[in-house]
Amino acid sequence: MQLDILKAKAPPLFGLDISSSSVKLVEIVDAGKGAYRVERYVIEPLPRESVVDGNINQLEAVAEAVKRGHQRLATRTKHVAMAVPTGAVITKKIIVQAGLREEDLEVQVESEANQYIPFAIEEVNLDFQVLGPSPSNPDEQEVLIAATRKEKVEDRIAVAHLAGLKPLVVDVESYAQQAALSLVIGQLPNHGLDMNIAVVDVGGNTMNVTVLRNDQSVYSREQAFGGNQLTQDIVSRYGMTLDEAENAKRSGGLPDDFEAEVLRPFMDNLSMEVQRALQFFFTSTQYNAIDHILLTGGSAVIPGVDEAVQARTQVPTSVANPFAAMQTSPRIQMKRLMLDAPSLIVACGLALRRFDPV
Ligand SMILES: Nc1ncnc2c1ncn2[C@@H]1O[C@H](COP(=O)(O)OP(=O)(O)OP(=O)(O)O)[C@@H](O)[C@H]1O
Ligand SMILES: [Mg+2]
Repeated sequence: MQLDILKAKAPPLFGLDISSSSVKLVEIVDAGKGAYRVERYVIEPLPRESVVDGNINQLEAVAEAVKRGHQRLATRTKHVAMAVPTGAVITKKIIVQAGLREEDLEVQVESEANQYIPFAIEEVNLDFQVLGPSPSNPDEQEVLIAATRKEKVEDRIAVAHLAGLKPLVVDVESYAQQAALSLVIGQLPNHGLDMNIAVVDVGGNTMNVTVLRNDQSVYSREQAFGGNQLTQDIVSRYGMTLDEAENAKRSGGLPDDFEAEVLRPFMDNLSMEVQRALQFFFTSTQYNAIDHILLTGGSAVIPGVDEAVQARTQVPTSVANPFAAMQTSPRIQMKRLMLDAPSLIVACGLALRRFDPV
């Protein structure tokens, strides 16, 4: 099978994001006239600890969840686009002579890769994409190489096969995220041009801050903070089990003092973490301003979290919805989609791979 980390492909496929709390499946179709339509999506919970930090610890359990998710998705499409965690990939731009034949280019890329990749070449999947002529010398061209640890790719492929699916594209999470977010950023004033946009992804256990500027990531940092902390707070305050707390958090029905005593402090904490992350960005880069904050991840839907972050950081903040400008199939509940959208960013970006030029 042809693995494809950087190159384009185009048969019908759906996006499958294997994250630590759930697997997320999104199918987007062409609605004509350049419009997209969200056809169907599913979020299928994963057993705790089955995926940790992008490592698939329980292949069978994850495959079962994917299988259930695919059944609920009720699509005919078996082809999937998946992603490996950003941290499992090393990318590097190299310069090679222009006009090389494919075989020569491959040899060149492999030997260059040997210098930059810190693990043995037998342990990585190597992929490359010609970016174009070098800006400084027309006799040279720029090539982007991506090396991924084989086991990360193989685990995902194994999950897809066990679930009866056909893996077609293995992307990188950060690229998929950016593809989906470029739809959101396109709606910002002046299409976000020359703006520093902080993407704050608050998931279950981790908070990821990436700063994008003109479609390029100029900064990225991960820290241990997320919605599971809130779940844990609910557990300890009200003596619930983890599952009860998780449920109550999403569907309400918590005691009256929840908002003031548990939720508020959590949101204050979250806002403070965001502010701290921005400070880190300022001290470690040449930049000293952030123009917009986009909140993503399952914890971004907590009502009022955008206002809390904005009040603390004084930066315009919104919750990212990559589906805002898309049509939606009648089978999709809009209210539900609004709530789920921030956690579907990667799955959405993967689903968009269907529209890659061949
Ligand atoms: N409606 C909701 N209200 C409050 N919290 C929610 C809601 N939906 C999801 N969450 C929380 O979002 C978190 C999961 O978010 P997400 O799916 O982005 O995480 P993940 O990508 O699986 O995890 P991680 O990024 O830590 O690997 C969980 O803590 C969950 O409780
Ligand atoms: Mg996540």
